[in-house]
Amino acid sequence: MIIKNSKFIISSTDVNACPKADMPEYAFIGRSNVGKSSLINMLTGKKKLAKTSGAPGKTQLINHFLINNSWYLVDLPGYGFAKASKSDREKWGEMIHKYLIKRTNLLCIFILIDSRHEHQKSDVDFIEWLGVNQLPFAIVFTKTDKLKKIQLQQNIDNYKEFLLTNWSELPQMFFTSAMSVLGKSEILKFIDKTNKIM
Ligand code: GTP
Ligand code: MG
Repeated sequence: MIIKNSKFIISSTDVNACPKADMPEYAFIGRSNVGKSSLINMLTGKKKLAKTSGAPGKTQLINHFLINNSWYLVDLPGYGFAKASKSDREKWGEMIHKYLIKRTNLLCIFILIDSRHEHQKSDVDFIEWLGVNQLPFAIVFTKTDKLKKIQLQQNIDNYKEFLLTNWSELPQMFFTSAMSVLGKSEILKFIDKTNKIM
């Protein structure tokens, strides 16, 4: 699939304020700074579509982008930001959990994981929450350009091994770099295929 057209639609604080749920939708979630907004820019080929930052906590709301006038990409604020206060974490949980559960057109949640790190509690907890709520998800390992090939393979093998201690099968996985554009065609192909089921 080729993205010919992508535009920002709205930032919402609440699922009820989001656009009408009449087209397929894909959300990007993960720890602060993992590269959610950068991945949206990489996929759409528009460097400034979603706002990115070197400092964690840049994305704060539920941001809808309309792609090819026929489906949505959604940029979400990250979790696991060490400096976030308890009330900020609670607000995040309320806004995001409600959005993920209530959004009927959400076909897949992409959980982004920094390929450089071992499994982190906040990601593991979040994946477990998705499982409990039976929400469809795929894992995206980001920032692969920051590792040597052999180290990347090792980290991914370790992650898979860890996931298999809790899950009977592995989810769909993607490996990306916003720098080298690795993983773009694989993710777009997956979305194209998934769009056809709605
Ligand atoms: P929040 O909105 O704060 O939750 O962060 P985010 O997950 O949207 O991360 P963002 O896309 O803003 O990227 C955070 C930082 O990581 C920026 O400095 C990006 O340039 C950098 N970054 C993102 N993806 C990649 C990647 O694939 N490779 C490299 N080398 N850097 C990346
Ligand atoms: Mg962001």
